[in-house]
Amino acid sequence: IKTMQKILITGGNGFIAFNFIKVMLKDDYDILSIDNLSLSKYLNHETINIKSDKFKFIECDIGSNDVCELIKNYQFDAIVNFAAESHVDKSIHSSNLFVDTNIRGVNNLLACCNDLIKKGDLPSDFRFIQVSTDEVYGSLTQTEPAFTESSILKPTNPYSASKASADLICMSYFKTHHFPVMITRCSNNFGPYQYPEKLIPLAVNNIINNKKIPIYGNGQQIRDWIYVEDHCLGIKKVLEQGQFGHVYNFGGYSELTNLEIIENIIQIMKPNEIANQYIEYVEDRPGHDTRYAINAEKVLNDLGWKPSHKFSNAIDETVNWYINNSEWSQNIMQTDQYKNWVEKQY
Ligand code: TYD
Repeated sequence: IKTMQKILITGGNGFIAFNFIKVMLKDDYDILSIDNLSLSKYLNHETINIKSDKFKFIECDIGSNDVCELIKNYQFDAIVNFAAESHVDKSIHSSNLFVDTNIRGVNNLLACCNDLIKKGDLPSDFRFIQVSTDEVYGSLTQTEPAFTESSILKPTNPYSASKASADLICMSYFKTHHFPVMITRCSNNFGPYQYPEKLIPLAVNNIINNKKIPIYGNGQQIRDWIYVEDHCLGIKKVLEQGQFGHVYNFGGYSELTNLEIIENIIQIMKPNEIANQYIEYVEDRPGHDTRYAINAEKVLNDLGWKPSHKFSNAIDETVNWYINNSEWSQNIMQTDQYKNWVEKQY
């Protein structure tokens, strides 16, 4: 296992990154988090307030020149790039920001790190993790086998296409420059601190606010759900033991339809009540992917990783977290940025 100390986390205010920071601080890493605050500009986000002398936050965009200066000055042992625009529905309304951050931003990080490596300005065993998504593989039918690392990339919406593009640029840097990059691709995450635009926090918050839960189309689309902490432990393993130029798939072994997820949440929050009264079927997402499923055998064989949380327990814990921390979501939902989004989308 590689010993590293200083890690740069990009997009540190985001859902998965924030959970990752907590995992890493438990293990005594020094963390510098950057974020452009695109989603949480008006919020005093928890990330900025983590009380640890091993943690520091700086507002910075991965597409900026400043980020290069920062990487040079801090001499990181590793960068884990979580920074991304991540909501499929938003990418359907407007894709510019997705191309800017998810493609151009990643390219900026790679180009800058590559220059520094060539000049000998980064530690000799520096490494870079690109946190990607299973959505780069496109959609499966009900019966097709789950995605492996060698499944072809067939993204279907501007979000997944931007993530696939970034993956290809990463791999091109590995091939061309021997750049020390590894890519992780994970299925749908759930857990604390997910932005309330996503299905699970949206559902919980709508029930709290006496609003119906909008289900796109017939609700029979399938996602493979993983508890965010399991995913974060997987990324940590890749960071410490992964091989450059490799892709690592992570999944939760929990394929469920959207309707099943929603019924689960209603059952936790309103036991013994008829679920249907909390649901509203709305127009389907254009190009809606039918099914995502991950084959996570490689990470089991190579890194000894498998998820340790059981879906039923983890969803219960997550729903209760949103109930007990409803102020966190409500603060976001009261911003103009969020209200405008809901107005546009629903
Ligand atoms: P989402 O959380 O946006 O993740 P992704 O699209 O990246 O999988 O959505 C999860 C699933 O839930 C997806 O199939 C779309 C569906 N969905 C709804 O049915 N209603 C909603 O209001 C939202 C946000 C999503």
